[in-house]
Amino acid sequence: MRLKVVIIIIGLIFLSVGAFAQKSTQSKSKLMLNGKKVYDMYCQACHQADGNGVPRLNPPLAGTVYVTGSKTRLIDIVLNGLTDPLEINGEEYNNPMAAHSFLTDQQIADVLTYIRNSFGNKAGVVTTAEVKKQRAKK
Ligand code: HEC
Repeated sequence: MRLKVVIIIIGLIFLSVGAFAQKSTQSKSKLMLNGKKVYDMYCQACHQADGNGVPRLNPPLAGTVYVTGSKTRLIDIVLNGLTDPLEINGEEYNNPMAAHSFLTDQQIADVLTYIRNSFGNKAGVVTTAEVKKQRAKK
C-alpha cells in the first residue's frame, strides 16, 4: 500500500517536471520568434539576415563579444546607439549606430535574446526587467 503511494507520487513528480520543461522551451521559442520579427524590421537592413553585417560598414553580430558578453552593455547599445570606432574580426567600423530607445522593453528583450541565440551564438536570454532597469539608469 505504502509502496503504491510512493510510486504514484514519484510518477506525479516526473509528470510535472516534464510539463515544466516543455513550457520553458515553448516560451523560449516564442521569445525567439518575436525577437526575429523585431530583428527583421529594425536591425536586418544593416546587420543582414545572417548576422554577418557588411564589411567596413555594419559590424557582424555573429560571434562578437558585444552580443554574447555583458547584457547591460548590449542593452545600452540598443537604447543609446553607438559611436565609438570598433574593431571586429580585424575590420574597423566607424559608422555610428542610431539609438533604438523607441522600441519597448519587451521588443528589446526579445530581439537581444534572438541575436544572442542566432547566427551560431549561444548566450542567456535578456528579460524585460533587465531592459527596464537599464533604461531607468539613463
Ligand atoms: C542603420 C544601420 C544599423 C541599424 C538599423 C542597426 N545597427 Fe547595430 N550597428 C550599426 C553600426 C554602424 C554599428 C557600429 C557602431 C560603431 O562603430 O560605433 C553597430 C553596432 C552594433 C552592435 C555592437 C557591435 C557588434 O557588431 O557586436 C550591436 C550589438 C548592434 N549594433 C545591434 C543592433 C541591433 C540589435 C539592432 C536592431 C535593434 C541594430 N543594431 C540596428 C548599424 C546599425
